[in-house]
Amino acid sequence: MYLFSKFFSPRNFRFDDKNHPLQVNACDEDVFHLTLLNLPSTSEQSRPGLSHLVLNSNGSPAPKVHVGLDGHGSFSLKAGQNRTFLASLPGTFFGTSGQAWMFQFRQRPDMQFYGMGEKSTPFEKSDRAHRFWNTDVWADHGASRSRDQVYDPDYLSVPYVIIKRGNTYVGILIDNAHPSIISVSPKLNVANQMMAVEHELPHFFLGAEGGTPSLFFLFGPSLAELTQKLQKLVGLAALPPLWSLGHQQSRWGYQGTKDLLHLADQFDRSEFPNDGLWLDIDYMSGYRVFTFSKEHFQDPKQDIASVQARGYKVVPILDPGVKQEQGYSVYESGRKADVFCRNPAGGEFSGVVWPGFTAFPDFSLERTRDWWATWVAGLADTGIEGAWLDMNDPATGPVDCNDMLFQEGREGHAVFHNRYASLMAEATYQGFLKARPNKRPFLISRSGFTGSQKFTAHWTGDNWSNYHHLHMSIGKTLNLALSGMAINGGDVPGFGGNCEEPLFIDWYKAAFLFPFFRNHCVRTSRPQEPWMFSKSALSIARRYIRLRYKLLPTLYSLFIQHCESGEAILRPLFYDFKDTKAFPLSHVQDQFMIGPWIMQAPFTVEKQSTRDILLPKARWWQADKPQWIQGPTHIQVKNLLATTPLFFREGAILPMQKGIAKNNRKNLRDLELFLCFSKGFTGSVETNYTCDDGESFNYLKGERSKYQISVAMDKEILRLRIWPLQEGYGQVVFEPFTVEKLKALYLETPEGIRKLIPTRFVADTFGIRTPFYSWR
Ligand code: NOJ
Repeated sequence: MYLFSKFFSPRNFRFDDKNHPLQVNACDEDVFHLTLLNLPSTSEQSRPGLSHLVLNSNGSPAPKVHVGLDGHGSFSLKAGQNRTFLASLPGTFFGTSGQAWMFQFRQRPDMQFYGMGEKSTPFEKSDRAHRFWNTDVWADHGASRSRDQVYDPDYLSVPYVIIKRGNTYVGILIDNAHPSIISVSPKLNVANQMMAVEHELPHFFLGAEGGTPSLFFLFGPSLAELTQKLQKLVGLAALPPLWSLGHQQSRWGYQGTKDLLHLADQFDRSEFPNDGLWLDIDYMSGYRVFTFSKEHFQDPKQDIASVQARGYKVVPILDPGVKQEQGYSVYESGRKADVFCRNPAGGEFSGVVWPGFTAFPDFSLERTRDWWATWVAGLADTGIEGAWLDMNDPATGPVDCNDMLFQEGREGHAVFHNRYASLMAEATYQGFLKARPNKRPFLISRSGFTGSQKFTAHWTGDNWSNYHHLHMSIGKTLNLALSGMAINGGDVPGFGGNCEEPLFIDWYKAAFLFPFFRNHCVRTSRPQEPWMFSKSALSIARRYIRLRYKLLPTLYSLFIQHCESGEAILRPLFYDFKDTKAFPLSHVQDQFMIGPWIMQAPFTVEKQSTRDILLPKARWWQADKPQWIQGPTHIQVKNLLATTPLFFREGAILPMQKGIAKNNRKNLRDLELFLCFSKGFTGSVETNYTCDDGESFNYLKGERSKYQISVAMDKEILRLRIWPLQEGYGQVVFEPFTVEKLKALYLETPEGIRKLIPTRFVADTFGIRTPFYSWR
């Protein structure tokens, strides 16, 4: 039996264009928006139906893409030489059941599927059905289930699928925040209705339980272009402050000033660079939001200033639930301003979170966002540098969250559930701006939805200290990046359970270049600050975190580029290299690129003594060895405790901080410049380096420095040209170094051309064996 039988069955499908007027708009750059109006559930006005239509991208004379619908309701997206990339059979494009709706497309054998935001399923998504409904994972799936198994849904939802065919990529985004599904599996469950789909031909589906049926189609053709188009469509990420790229230290259990000062001492003593010190729920008085515990803080403003004077930023947690308690000023003011969600009986909705019964701000209302922003501004006045938004799925404890109504009770829960965290993030961001208009706020959030990256970064919630989660963290971060959420990272070395030393080392080595890096765990876990393991473990973790700091100029430049163009930061191999039958890259989920020049292939399997590594077509400098390797090839490497396989692609021009970073001091203007070229290299490469003060919005007024850096090389003679495009943040000085002694190195700047002299060093520029030549 087909529960979608009214309008949907695989063979007998009715597409009634009079009842379901369809609207397709070509937006810019091969992006199409398709909406079906006048469904029984929608109140929108009907528009004239379009029964036969072809749209070309950009109206250009030689269009790359057509999106078409013929008179029988058969959909197609054609690309290139009229090749059909995506199609649905006549009359089987769309169906409804009550308020739920669904689109159906033919699944071709050569299709592979990626994206889908945050999912614990393997990197490639064939044979999987996913639901998009922000979920408090431990509470809703059970902590033990999430420990070793795949679970769905996850905290954050981006209902977006990438379809790969060869080296051409198309993305489809559901433009609707209702609970939705994307299924590349014959098992379908929409609106709690199970459908056994018995097609002769495989299909994949996108649907939602309500709202207007609406999809965006984005045509790459490359994955890099597709990612940038998506990012521009859903919103570029907020540029974070530079300190947020450093190491962050957290633990559920840190209570106040004493703990923070102790951490500051430990980081100083261990010469372990760290930027943020994070406070979990215990800093509050009885878990009441916007309060500080009197026991753990004498004077929050002074106490925080005393920690921050030592060079560390303090970041507290912020939950949406407000304790329902008479006399508690936040609650009283919220009631007065009428900002809380209602229940079906018209009263105030009540959930159960850390402080007991809590009311939930209705962030869908502008007045609530203003009210919240005012409280946030008060919190920001204490001097804290950012906030960590938790339990915003929203988590309501044993109470059914579906009873939480919005818009003074007029809108059901489903309409805003997935957007709750995004709206909270927006209000929090505004609150920080209210307090400090010229300082970039930094937020991380557990839940989120398409678009939340405009206000907040994302951490992947409650993972576990085990190899399953370490391994999974790579596929997760890669798909998040491809889904427009590039600034993310998981708790290192795992939130739940007791981390054993080998895992601690492996996780630090694997994640040291993840866009967001924070050590955090649950209060019952063994202590897992870096100095809580053996001296040698501490020194290995420190070596890689120091290398992260050394690479900060390169990382920060990648962040700036991401926030300007949507270019991903951490990404899969097939983002930068073509995938071929002879040398397939698309299945690789345990290697990744950081920008176009750095590749990691960490050990993520317990007690694994060797692993295979694919080196795509390029010449690679294996920094941990060190040696050159010509790709495409695959190699086998041994698992060595003190190092991790780390590769620089020939042609890399990487600005780095000078020397070895023993603390979090940052200098983006006095740099080493790593020129990754072998003696045999012939040709030229160009790159840009951008920097600014890393904390204010002055870059919008021109206080930024930007250089075009190019290398031309022939017969062991390297010509380096460093050209300022803008020096609003002052002049940057670069000291080049190479891994091989070359015949000559000429430096061209606006002051003229001069020949540099090589000086040999045997050290340890990366902290990992690589000797180098510095040129002065
Ligand atoms: C759940 C969060 O995911 C976790 O990181 C945090 O430590 C606890 N809530 C307590 O606040």
